[in-house]
Amino acid sequence: MPFKPIRKAIFPVAGLGTRFLPATKAMPKEMLTVVDKPLIQYAVEEALEAGIEQIIFVTGRGKAALEDHFDVSYELEDTLRRRGKSLASIELIRMPPGSPVYIRQQEPLGLGHAVWCAREVVGDEPFAVLLPDELMVGTPGFMAQMVAAYARVGGNLVGALAVADRETDKYGIISPGRREGTLTEVRALIEKPARGTAPSNLMIPGRYILQPEVMQLLGRQEKGAGGEVQLTDAMAQLIGQQPFHGVTFDGHRHDCGDKAGWVQANLALALAREDIGAAVRAFAADLIGADAREDQIARAA
Ligand code: G1P
Repeated sequence: MPFKPIRKAIFPVAGLGTRFLPATKAMPKEMLTVVDKPLIQYAVEEALEAGIEQIIFVTGRGKAALEDHFDVSYELEDTLRRRGKSLASIELIRMPPGSPVYIRQQEPLGLGHAVWCAREVVGDEPFAVLLPDELMVGTPGFMAQMVAAYARVGGNLVGALAVADRETDKYGIISPGRREGTLTEVRALIEKPARGTAPSNLMIPGRYILQPEVMQLLGRQEKGAGGEVQLTDAMAQLIGQQPFHGVTFDGHRHDCGDKAGWVQANLALALAREDIGAAVRAFAADLIGADAREDQIARAA
């Protein structure tokens, strides 16, 4: 590959998860499970599949469960072994010594600030950023698809996903240029544009491959939308200086930062499972049938 490989990935996981209270009062929101795996593990597996070697978590207070999750659980492993039970379900979580790195973001000053907190660990290398709220289900995973695109064009890449026009004020939005296959040239980026002002309906679904120069721009700590240091604003300043593309995802996105999206993710992934899919499908069909019957009764009354 003519470009420096992507070996490191940043996972900003310091957020308080206020949208999921009370579930997240004493538990990190990234530990919310979809079927039987915490959100953070889906994102880490996506990064590892894409060839990432070093996992950098930017955490905050009250997030110790994340560190424990990716550590050896001596007592659990010993008990499973003594009982002759399989360790398969926890073996994947164990990372090579020195791989998970934990950095604390002391104050919630924004996504851009969280990424900047990892600057010394990233150094002078391109890196990935994955937001675990966004659960991306694809074969291969989205980060692997982005790394393949990076191998072709280098520079900076963000995920690009079309959303309904009424939703563009919730996200970072791409002003698109020329499109070629899954790649779209990025002409401008704007974080949470006011309703009716978005340059397109292409949003950034929390996946990034960035050049290290973005760290210097983040170092200026300029505040943007919501009074926060926005990653989108720093990225926007790289356009024109370095290649910048959006990558269309071949797969399904579940917005697990949202209660409905998280419930839908549980349902979709449960239905796709060999062990429980049939039982969940039968139950869902019953539930929908009962709902329709109640509707009919209500209409007839
Ligand atoms: C962040 C980013 C935004 C991106 C979104 C994806 O926003 O700032 O550009 O589109 O994640 O979920 P947040 O959800 O933290 O407000």
